[in-house]
Amino acid sequence: MTNAIYEKLINCVNAVKSRISFQPEVALVLGSGLGDYAQEMDIREIVEYKEIEGFPVSTVAGHQGRFLFGYVENVPMVAMQGRVHFYEGYPMSDVVLPVRLMGLLGAKTLILTNAAGGVNYNFQPGDLMMITDHITTAVPSPLIGPNLDELGTRFPDMSEVYNKELRSIIRQAARNAGVSLQQGVYMQFTGPSYETPAEIRMCRTLGGDAAGMSTACEAMAANHMGMKVCGISCITNLAAGMSSAPLDHREVQEVADRVAAEFKKLVTETIRLIGGR
Ligand code: HPA
Repeated sequence: MTNAIYEKLINCVNAVKSRISFQPEVALVLGSGLGDYAQEMDIREIVEYKEIEGFPVSTVAGHQGRFLFGYVENVPMVAMQGRVHFYEGYPMSDVVLPVRLMGLLGAKTLILTNAAGGVNYNFQPGDLMMITDHITTAVPSPLIGPNLDELGTRFPDMSEVYNKELRSIIRQAARNAGVSLQQGVYMQFTGPSYETPAEIRMCRTLGGDAAGMSTACEAMAANHMGMKVCGISCITNLAAGMSSAPLDHREVQEVADRVAAEFKKLVTETIRLIGGR
């Protein structure tokens, strides 16, 4: 029996393959602040999400929707300019479809980026945080439902979702690029509302250092299919209840934009080191 989720994925993969011949080795998801990372890439081919039948298209203002194929530091890459979020109403299987697609195009390494609220008292808006682990218990698992045996096993190990070697590469990249780096545990919430102060206290009590609305589900799906995963958050604000100001998407965007140059430097140096392994 064919599985509808797998069938849709394969149809999308075939649609992309019929348009391009590029073979990416590294996949990159561009979160807030990295939207214009295209400028750092030697772009060879572009596929708009809307050209791919059945592909989930982001509805968030400021999020573009396309795959960029090209090179960063001579490493063949695919970058997602715009991701879909669970809060947009898509099922988790659609939210992780783009990441799975990049894996099936041949990308063995996945770099995830996002904007997140700082939960750890040592974090400041504008900090960059390497993700060491995550907590996803506030959102449904993207692996619920019949297992996609073609991709991975029913009960995948999640004891090292964020690959140890890639974490050490990111730390080295930060030193090389002269960028200061925090590290910590990312907790995914559903959004679209920001969390309450009580939820942020819960997050901290559970061991979370940053709160966001994406990424961890993508990391799980990629880990399930054997991709090597790493992630970096841009801490755009103190999480709810940690400052007197209410949370505002515009402020998140402004801080993300302010840090963009440093964030880009760190990502490019990370890719260079991945390519040189
Ligand atoms: N919470 C959740 N997601 C976010 C935040 C936050 O405080 N800031 C940026 N994305």
